Amino acid sequence: MTHVLLAESLEFRYGARTVFRNLSFAIAAGESAGLAGPNGAGKSTLLWCLMGLLRPHAGRVEVRVPFGAVFQNPDDQLFMPSILEDAAMPLENRGATRHEAREKALEALAAVGLEHAASRPGHALSAGERKRAALACALALSPGLLLLDEPTSELDPRAARLLAAHLNRLSCAKLIASHDLAFLRRTASRLLILDESCLAADGPAEILLNDEELLLRHGLK
Ligand SMILES: Nc1ncnc2c1ncn2[C@@H]1O[C@H](COP(=O)(O)OP(=O)(O)O)[C@@H](O)[C@H]1O
Ligand SMILES: [Mg+2]
Repeated sequence: MTHVLLAESLEFRYGARTVFRNLSFAIAAGESAGLAGPNGAGKSTLLWCLMGLLRPHAGRVEVRVPFGAVFQNPDDQLFMPSILEDAAMPLENRGATRHEAREKALEALAAVGLEHAASRPGHALSAGERKRAALACALALSPGLLLLDEPTSELDPRAARLLAAHLNRLSCAKLIASHDLAFLRRTASRLLILDESCLAADGPAEILLNDEELLLRHGLK
C-alpha cells in the first residue's frame, strides 16, 4: 500500500506539558481519516507538526506528496482583495505564471461551487463559503493529501453537509481533525482518537463511531 504520510513515534510538548508521545500512524493514498478527540487533546498541535509548522521533540514525519492545509480560521488563508487571488497566490509563489495560477485557482473555486464569488474578498462571504474558499486555496495546489482542522466550526448543518459533499468528491487522502462526529461519519472511513497523549483508538470509522462507550470515555459524547 502506498502511504502519503508517515508519522513515527512523535512527541510534542509545550514547555513541561506533554501533548502527545510515541504517536505513530500512516495515511494511505486516497484514504479519508478523521482525527477526533476532546478539546485540548492536541489535534491542532498534531496537524501543525504534520504541516511542518511545529517541530516535534522526538519522532519523524514524512509527507510524501504535495499537501494542502485548511486551517480552522479561514481568515488565516483569505486576506487578498479576492478569493481568486487567495487561491492563486501560493501557486505564483511556487513559480506558476499569473495566467496558470488564475486558471488553477478558478478550477479549484469551481470544485467547491464558488466560481461565481471568485472576485469577492473572503470577508464578503458567508462562514460556509469562507470554509469552502479556504479548501479551494488548498486544492489549487493539486494536493495528494489534505489536512483539515475543524472544518465545520461555525458552520450550520446545511453548510457542513455541503462541505462534506465537496470533500467526498475529492480523490486525495484526507486527515480531518474534528469533534463533529456527524461530519466524520459522512467524510471519514477511518477514525483516529487522540486523548491523553496517545492514540486511544485507530480503526474503521463505522465501528468506532457506533461504540458509545468508547466515545463517552474520550469526551466525544
Ligand atoms: N501555544 C501554546 N502554548 C502552550 N500550550 C498550548 C499552546 N497551544 C496549545 N496548547 C495546549 O496544548 C493542548 C493541545 O491543544 P490543541 O492542539 O489546540 O488541542 P485540540 O486542537 O485537540 O483542541 C491544550 O492543552 C492547549 O491548552
Ligand atoms: Mg484544535
